[in-house]
Amino acid sequence: MSTANPLDDALARLDSLQAEGLAGFAGAKDEAAVEAVRIDFLGLKQGRLKAAQEALKTLGRAEKPVYGQRFNAAKQALEAAWEASKARVGRPGEVADAVDVTLPGSRPKIGHRHPLTQTAEELIDLFGRFGFAVARGPEVEDVRHNFEALNIPSTHPARDPADNFYIGEGTLLRSQTSTVQIRTMESQPPPVRVIAIGRVFRPDETDETHSPMFHQIEGLMVDKGVTMADLKTVLRLFATSYLGRDVKIRFRPSFFPFTEPSVEVDMLWHGGDRWVEMGGAGMVDPNVFRAVGYDPDEVSGFAFGLGIERLCMRRHGIKDIRSFYQNDVRFLGQF
Ligand code: FA5
Repeated sequence: MSTANPLDDALARLDSLQAEGLAGFAGAKDEAAVEAVRIDFLGLKQGRLKAAQEALKTLGRAEKPVYGQRFNAAKQALEAAWEASKARVGRPGEVADAVDVTLPGSRPKIGHRHPLTQTAEELIDLFGRFGFAVARGPEVEDVRHNFEALNIPSTHPARDPADNFYIGEGTLLRSQTSTVQIRTMESQPPPVRVIAIGRVFRPDETDETHSPMFHQIEGLMVDKGVTMADLKTVLRLFATSYLGRDVKIRFRPSFFPFTEPSVEVDMLWHGGDRWVEMGGAGMVDPNVFRAVGYDPDEVSGFAFGLGIERLCMRRHGIKDIRSFYQNDVRFLGQF
């Protein structure tokens, strides 16, 4: 394209130079290609833009500012195209707003069951394999099931209002799951082989191993010829199954109104420097059998009641029972 006017000529050359340069940057596939287009058009020594600048010298005084303005616009357009093409080839394969499937994923937060619920489920499973079914009873109990049928007469200190949460005439929040022994035997003839798991309530002073609300697992086995040896075997088998082969437990002679003879079972605590009481147990007292209509000359049985929090603490190395009830997800999330 050629006209008589040198300014128009020069402007037309600038237009086509810009168009070629923009197309060059747009078509460059990698960093080397972008750099080649840059040298060709924007190179300081021999670039085509530099050459176009020379045209200024051939123009008259009035024409120079017109050309200069157009020259600057072309330079800016080419530099912008250079930046854009550099950014494009610097991130190969990237498409705006696409998901980069090679990045590590963000783990969704999934809730899970409370460690005590998990423990209860595991205990149900474990005793299920020993042949124990699951029995249930209410948390609000009457004095017959919490005391009287368990051979705890009205004069007994265990019934003291200071040691129980009475909530009305003859009713209280149960202080032990032994209530379910009575409810089970009332509702079925022997033989019996059940466990009962649930919450119990006592106005105990709180410390690392005591809470005013906690959970117990009760066990009851009644049949012809059940002996203390059966009780010890089941508890030892349970302890090694749940706490591990190397756990140490010991039986101490004790007293409960509803068992005779009675024992307390201790486990060697984590750290190995002290014994902590795991639960109480014994052979079902004949008076309890009479209270539910069983014949103590026909059947015998054993019963036990263990603290679930303490079992879970010993199993997982938990130091303080209060951790279970503070709802701190940093604690709960570990199970
Ligand atoms: C009883 O509750 C008896 N009913 C156990 C029993 C059942 C004996 C059947 C014989 C036959 P005891 O009060 O010792 O016993 O409690 C049993 C276990 O519950 C304790 O060994 C302990 O592991 C747990 N426990 C007791 N009080 C608390 C408490 N405040 N916080 C946490 N755990 C407790």
